Amino acid sequence: MRKWIFGLSILASFALQAQITDSTKKKEKMQWFKDAKLGVFIHWGLYSVDGIDESWSFFNGYISHEDYLKQTSGFSAKNYQPKEWAKLIKEAGAKYTVITSKHHEGFALWDSKFGDFNSVKSASAKQDVLTPFVEAVRKENLKLGIYYSLPDWSHSDYTHFTRDSIRYKVQDEPSRWNKFLKLYQGQLKELSEKYNPDLYWFDGDWEHSSEEWEAPKVRNMLQEKNLDVILNSRLKNEGDYDTPEQGMPITRPSNPYWELCMTMNNSWGYQKNDSDYKTTDQVIGIFADVLTNGGNLLLDIGPKGDGSIPQEQVAILKGLGRWTQKHNEAIYGTIAGIPKEHFYGPTTLSKDKKTLYLFVKGDSNGEVVLRGLKNNINRIYVVGQGSKLNHQEVGKVYWSHYPGIKYIKLPKHVLDENMTVLAVMLDGEVDLYREKGSVIESN
Ligand code: GLC
Repeated sequence: MRKWIFGLSILASFALQAQITDSTKKKEKMQWFKDAKLGVFIHWGLYSVDGIDESWSFFNGYISHEDYLKQTSGFSAKNYQPKEWAKLIKEAGAKYTVITSKHHEGFALWDSKFGDFNSVKSASAKQDVLTPFVEAVRKENLKLGIYYSLPDWSHSDYTHFTRDSIRYKVQDEPSRWNKFLKLYQGQLKELSEKYNPDLYWFDGDWEHSSEEWEAPKVRNMLQEKNLDVILNSRLKNEGDYDTPEQGMPITRPSNPYWELCMTMNNSWGYQKNDSDYKTTDQVIGIFADVLTNGGNLLLDIGPKGDGSIPQEQVAILKGLGRWTQKHNEAIYGTIAGIPKEHFYGPTTLSKDKKTLYLFVKGDSNGEVVLRGLKNNINRIYVVGQGSKLNHQEVGKVYWSHYPGIKYIKLPKHVLDENMTVLAVMLDGEVDLYREKGSVIESN
C-alpha cells in the first residue's frame, strides 16, 4: 500500500513538473505576441473589387454565387505596392500583421497547387500577391500572421455552400469529406513550407467539430515545421489565444493571451459605401483600453481590388503611428495596468512594476487623480514630451496607512492632441491599498 502511494505521488510530481514546463514553454513562445500590442489585419480578396461583404454576401443570399465570382476578373492588383503596405504597417507602430490568404469563398492569394481559384490562375492580376507581401513584411522585421479560412464555400467537396444549401453531410459521404481534408491540409502545408508564418489566424471552425477538422493533427503538422508557431483560438480547442471580435472586452479577460480584432469602419473588406470610420482618437482610446487589460489590438484595413489602400485608412494608421511612436515606452513591453478604482482611465505598468503609466483623455480639468497608491512617487513626467509634473497628496492622516489621494497638476501646454500619457515613477513595485479602512489601524 505504502509503495503504491509513493509511486502515485512520484507520478503526480512528474505530471506537475510536465505542466510547469509546458506553461514555461508557452510563456516563452507567446512573449513576442504579448509584447507586440498592435497588429494590422488585412482583408483583401475578391470582395474588395465590388466592395461587398467578404464571402458572406453570397452565403447570406445578397448576391448570387455566380455574380460574386464575376469579381475575379476585376481583381487586378494593378496598384499594389507590397513594400509600401509593409512600411505603412510598421509606421503605424504594429509589430505584426495578419493577411487573408484565403477567405470563406475560397479564393487564394498565392499560387496554390490545389485548383485554379487563385490570384495567379483566374484573376486579372495573374500574379501571386501573397509572396511579395511576405517578403516585404520580413524585410521590415514584422511578425507574419496568415489568416486561413477552414470553410471553402465555393469548393464542390466542401459541405456548406450557402445559408440554405448544404451539399452533403460528412457522415453520409466520408470519402468526399476526406478529399476536402486533403485539400485544406495540403494548402496549409503549402503555406507553412512557403512562408513559415509566425502565426496562423484560423476562421470558420464553427462549421465542423474538432474531429471533423482533424484539428489536433493540423496543429501537429504546423508545429512540425515551426515549434513556436502561434495559433489563434479558431481551430477548435487547439488555439493559443482568444480572439474577441469587434467588441472591446469590458472586464479583463481571464486568458492572459488575447487579441481584439476590429474594423476601422463597419466592414472587414473594402466597401466604398461604408464611410462610418472611427476617428483616430477613438481608435487610440480603444487601443489604450486594450493595453490596460493586457491584450493586443488587431486593427483591420481593407485594400481595394487594385491593391491601393483607401485614404481614410492610411490616415488612421498614420495618426496611430504618430501617437505610438511618441508613447513607445508606455505601450510596448508593458503589462496590464491597475484596477480602475485607483485611476479612472487606462493604465499600463513597466515590466518591473516600478513605473505606472496613466493615459489621460483631454485636459482632465487640469488635474489627474490617483487613489490608494501606497508608494512614494519619485517623479512624474509627460511621456514623449518630458515635462515633470507636480503632485499634491490629500487626506493622509498619521494614524492610518491609508495612502491619501494624489492630485497631479496637468498644464495645458503638455497635452497630446489625442491622448496624453504620464509616467509615474514609484519608489518600488506598485503597491495598492485594497483594504477596507477602519477608524484605528495598527501599524
Ligand atoms: C468573422 C467573419 C469573417 C471575418 C472575421 C474576422 O469570423 O466570418 O468574415 O473575416 O470574422 O475576424
